[in-house]
Amino acid sequence: MNMFWAPSGELPVQASTPEEITRFVVEAAVHAPSVSNTQPWWFSKDSDGIGVHADTERRMPVADPDGREMVISCGAAVFTARVALRYLGLVPRVRLLPDPDLPNLIARITWEGQTPPADYERRLFAEIPRRRTHRGGFDDEPLPAGLLATLREEAAREGATLRIMSDDHQRGALSAVVEAADHALRLDPARVREQAKWAPPPGSQRRDGVPATAYPARPERTEPAFPSRDFAHGHGWGLPPSGTDVRPRSAGAVTVLTTGADQPADWVRAGQALQRVLLLASSSGVSAALHSQPLEVPSLRAFIRESLTGGAYPQMVVRFGTTGQAAVSVRRPVDEVLL
Ligand SMILES: Cc1cc2nc3c(=O)[nH]c(=O)nc-3n(C[C@H](O)[C@H](O)[C@H](O)COP(=O)(O)O)c2cc1C
Repeated sequence: MNMFWAPSGELPVQASTPEEITRFVVEAAVHAPSVSNTQPWWFSKDSDGIGVHADTERRMPVADPDGREMVISCGAAVFTARVALRYLGLVPRVRLLPDPDLPNLIARITWEGQTPPADYERRLFAEIPRRRTHRGGFDDEPLPAGLLATLREEAAREGATLRIMSDDHQRGALSAVVEAADHALRLDPARVREQAKWAPPPGSQRRDGVPATAYPARPERTEPAFPSRDFAHGHGWGLPPSGTDVRPRSAGAVTVLTTGADQPADWVRAGQALQRVLLLASSSGVSAALHSQPLEVPSLRAFIRESLTGGAYPQMVVRFGTTGQAAVSVRRPVDEVLL
């Protein structure tokens, strides 16, 4: 018999079968962030655990020819599944790819034992449905003391490095690269068409893609500039402005998540590290804005690697800060992804 701990932590709720555990875990895992909310995953209930698979039909072939962002997204789902298992008091064991017979298998997750979750594990679990990607600027308030150092440690636990761009020149250079990439993507008709496929119009019943409730109708300027992607592609869709302030807002704490190598297993690690730092930040009331525009342009990714990350491979640009704004996202139901 396995016990489900209630979010408040006081009342364990009974639950038991491997099927129930699998469903519970997948229900949590689908909340992971994914590139353009493509949710490029499916899950299998195996004899001894759960398989996490990349759904290659959902890869963005123009923006993501190698499937790097697809695999990072699946890695984020793997970490979320681990947190859900810990919440149940189970100890996850994760075997990462490769499996020559199943090239799209990302990880096989099994579990054992009964160790009640620690407080911080319950807090991470509570953030899974609450965390949202922010698109825009942040309040001028400093982050909670010590948070950035903790986020660095958390990323390191997953085999990735969170590099803080604390120097004005580093932040300026990274901002310029994000801006250049954003312009380049808007100039490329194939990329614009592909992005539009994953940005449904307001009122759409779709449960994937970036909905108009997830980004501001008027792009928010930050200092230095970190432009958001053009999800509305000129339609004026998006959330109404939250205030009348026309001054640029803070870009927040600017970081780059990197790995030492650039193989699919590194992308899975980057995805796990990404979700780990996002959930931890969220549990401290801190939101994150993600920028993968420059990582989709090979020459700009190479520039970041050579000039800003000491040769390590950039996997995501992440800005952290506080904001009162709340985006609303969508997810496909579990029955569509648990096969
Ligand atoms: C690999 C990857 C790349 C992403 N790139 C961007 C990006 O460039 N711009 C952005 O606004 N969000 C980006 N996101 C965030 C996704 O758009 C977001 O996770 C998805 O829309 C689901 O929304 P949610 O995170 O609010 O649940 C990225 C996420 C992942 C995992």
